[in-house]
Amino acid sequence: MDKKPWGGRFCEATDKNVEKFTSSLHFDRRLYRYDIAGSIAHAKMLCKQGIIKRSEEKQIISGLKEILQEIQGGLFVFEEADEDIHMAIEKALVAKIGKTGEKLHTARSRNDQIALDMRLYAREEINQVIHLVKKLKKALISLAKNESKTIMPGYTHLQKAQPVLLAHHLLAYWEMLDRDEQRLEDCLKRIDVMPLGSAALAGTTIPIDREFVAKQLNFSRISQNSMDAVSDRDFVVESVFVLSVIMMHMSRFCEDIILWASDEFRFVEISDAFTTGSSIMPQKKNPDVAELIRGKTGRVYGDLVAILTVMKGIPMTYNRDLQEDKEALFDAVDTAKNSLQILSEMARHLKFNRTKMYSDSTKGFSMATDMAEYLAMKGLPFREAHRIVGSVVSYCIKKDKDLSSLTLKELQKYYQGFEEDIFLRLNIEHGIGARNHVGGTAQETVLKRIRSMEEQK
Ligand code: ARG
Repeated sequence: MDKKPWGGRFCEATDKNVEKFTSSLHFDRRLYRYDIAGSIAHAKMLCKQGIIKRSEEKQIISGLKEILQEIQGGLFVFEEADEDIHMAIEKALVAKIGKTGEKLHTARSRNDQIALDMRLYAREEINQVIHLVKKLKKALISLAKNESKTIMPGYTHLQKAQPVLLAHHLLAYWEMLDRDEQRLEDCLKRIDVMPLGSAALAGTTIPIDREFVAKQLNFSRISQNSMDAVSDRDFVVESVFVLSVIMMHMSRFCEDIILWASDEFRFVEISDAFTTGSSIMPQKKNPDVAELIRGKTGRVYGDLVAILTVMKGIPMTYNRDLQEDKEALFDAVDTAKNSLQILSEMARHLKFNRTKMYSDSTKGFSMATDMAEYLAMKGLPFREAHRIVGSVVSYCIKKDKDLSSLTLKELQKYYQGFEEDIFLRLNIEHGIGARNHVGGTAQETVLKRIRSMEEQK
């Protein structure tokens, strides 16, 4: 009988289907680098504490390094029967260096080992996501700088509302992504906790040095409760949550691009390299990349709901359910990274139709609010000003006219106090320029904000 490392108390071999069902090797093999780094730190600690000899430590470390190279070189043979990455590596180590290899698992359990591997993985990946979020933020800034004079209709309810600068619209996504970056940084603080030493759940009777291990692996803190350390995965939940928010923000930007690229809007041209055609309709150029990011957002939400649901009924402490955290995190990380990468590239190649954006911003009585604010500044209660302008708009609709094409006489029928200066107030550039308070769409305000964005590291 092929004995498992845990096979001492078993008389029968594991059922083949059970082996297949319980194995995580086909997905957790990607943790090999972290698993080996953790084992090397652990072996050094065992030696420093006099638990293994210096010669044994040397053998273990060089064996682990060889295994690392074999895996990286594609020479390592993974066998399903090994159950998971921890046992696959340990088995290979024992095969290489014999009995000494069996000392590595002293004062350790796979329960704290996997908690460590996941934290090392999450730390590295979240740092990469931060880098990619920064890249997308930069792409938005460079687009905004090119379009710092471009005027477009701003929408609410997808109805024309008030003219805004395209740069202001684009940089709204910068602000969202900036908060995402802060959320990622915050998430890192809670990932940055070293769980090794918790062993199975209760710690160990062996005199270990946990701080030493933490230092080896660059962790700032060690976990304070062994039961918590092996049984919670809130750092996974939190990471997938932040990735979900990032996907949500990208999805909304993609939705804008999809709408703007339609013939109905004609606000933007996506470069050929980032679109695809139709197999039947020769004229088509479809925004599939943007649609897929929108679609993949649903998939990452699925990962979040999966991990939250896995966690909700697990009794203390480690239970095998926790193995289900991996694919959710891996998938969310891969999806978010790919989406961030491709969206940054696509964004850089967007060509905006400035003429169409401008001419659309003059439509739909988009200056009606400015007219009401003009009246309010003349001393009318805003509600009354709102009613008056509402009647003017209704008159324009009947007569098929624009607000700016009305004569002063026509306006004065609705309110005596209208004066010549109303026509300046109906000028779009004037309206945008007057919104020069912090957060407004005036060009000077937007440019000032861009300068402060560029000062950020
Ligand atoms: N593959 C397991 C996981 O992903 C590793 C820990 C296994 N521990 C155990 N006691 N069976 O969670």
